[in-house]
Amino acid sequence: MKKPDQSKKLFIKTWGCQMNVYDSNRMADVLAPLGYECVDSPDGADMIILNTCHIREKATDKVFSEIGRLKKHKKAREAEGGQMLMAVAGCVAQAEGDFILERAPVVDMVFGPQTYHELPEMVAKATGAFGSNRPVHTELAVENKFDSLPEEHVNVGPASFLSVQEGCDKFCTFCVVPYTRGAEFSRPMQAILDEAMRLIDLGTKEITLLGQNVNAWHGDGLDGNPSSLGKLIEEIAKLGVTRIRYTTSHPRDVDDDLIAAHRDIDSLMPYLHLPVQSGSDKILKAMNRKHTADEYKAVMDRFRDARPDISFSGDFIVGFPGESEEDFQATMDMVNYIEYGSGYSFKYSPRPGTPAANMGGLVREEVKGERLQRLQDLITEKQLKFNKKTEGLVLPVLFERIGGREGQIQGRTPYNQSVNAYGNERLIGEIVDVRITEGFMSSVAGEIETVEIIAQNA
Ligand code: SAH
Ligand code: SF4
Ligand code: F3S
Repeated sequence: MKKPDQSKKLFIKTWGCQMNVYDSNRMADVLAPLGYECVDSPDGADMIILNTCHIREKATDKVFSEIGRLKKHKKAREAEGGQMLMAVAGCVAQAEGDFILERAPVVDMVFGPQTYHELPEMVAKATGAFGSNRPVHTELAVENKFDSLPEEHVNVGPASFLSVQEGCDKFCTFCVVPYTRGAEFSRPMQAILDEAMRLIDLGTKEITLLGQNVNAWHGDGLDGNPSSLGKLIEEIAKLGVTRIRYTTSHPRDVDDDLIAAHRDIDSLMPYLHLPVQSGSDKILKAMNRKHTADEYKAVMDRFRDARPDISFSGDFIVGFPGESEEDFQATMDMVNYIEYGSGYSFKYSPRPGTPAANMGGLVREEVKGERLQRLQDLITEKQLKFNKKTEGLVLPVLFERIGGREGQIQGRTPYNQSVNAYGNERLIGEIVDVRITEGFMSSVAGEIETVEIIAQNA
């Protein structure tokens, strides 16, 4: 990497899905050769990037209030005779770019998720090297981005994200993603394997393959023909990474290769996040999910047959237009049938420009609230049940960070449970056997098994 002349401070705040986390890391990689180093506070920053999410309500309001809060840092910097660039990136930038520039004069640049490889050019424009202006970059084609991103990664931890697929062609009637991320695009297998190898060389123990619709991945395989996510996982496993995960999948794109991967590949973790949104066929149809509740159950049964201990997770929306008490009950029945180990539930939020935003049969806010509470209570009950079931097991845990209490470290089991255990900080980045002592609602407690040190020269 070219050595920068002078170090500058970069503060990135990230909202939304894991893909935004990946993107924020990649923005840091793009800016590193220009001398930017990441800091964890906006104080004295030379550049602030707000990497935003547009998935649910008030997304734009949140961005404006954050800009309002950060304005004083920019003013303080200018009072010292310095400069602070303020950028809005991500899905709100894509959807509301011009509006943001119009309403917030402190914002120097706005760019969508497919254009951050152009950051050096945008920074040059905004800092006035070629006559200062406020760039807006919101093209939606993904192809150029991945080819132009640097090979270097500056912030690599024990667990890394790797984007393999972006965009979505499914157009569920409630969702903004096809509009903010554009059409589906799969990176070629070789490019993904090269990036995975670089992450492994930098010490990553776990790679999570990302896509808005990751199991729709159909990039060119090593023989040049379109391949499948299951085959990609098989190739990544051969590189020697200890743990592989992927997210988020769509029930319609589950194929035999993916099921086989869960049966045959030890490094593919026994965990699957497969959103269902609703258990009612009527609502699934109105959402344009293109599958029935029974079809979803059948897919989950196949995963369970291939890997009996697999832990399931899902996303659910309550209060979609037209949802009756009976439809909601079908969602509760689904949770009871699948026995999820974890789950995420949301109140339906109408998004501008999506077909559902114009549908009749609106569900009253208080009904949505009450249904959400019932669903969350049920999911919590299932989570507790799953976590309790693992009590007494000895599981390999990848420790990733300092824990909540003094002397604790935190990591995840193969089932993606969050574990807290007393242990030395030096174990962060290692996979260690842990006996699960107690299961709680959203985490488990464990004790590190005594590590036997074999004295080589004894
Ligand atoms: N690609 C994934 C989901 C991406 S969005 C899939 O197909 O399932 C993440 C989650 O946000 C969704 O699964 C959904 O549960 C929720 N979500 C998306 N749009 C929403 C909206 N308008 N209102 C409420 N929740 C929404
Ligand atoms: Fe949104 Fe549906 Fe695409 Fe998921 S599959 S990103 S919910 S449009
Ligand atoms: Fe949000 Fe965009 Fe991800 S809308 S959920 S950041 S794809």
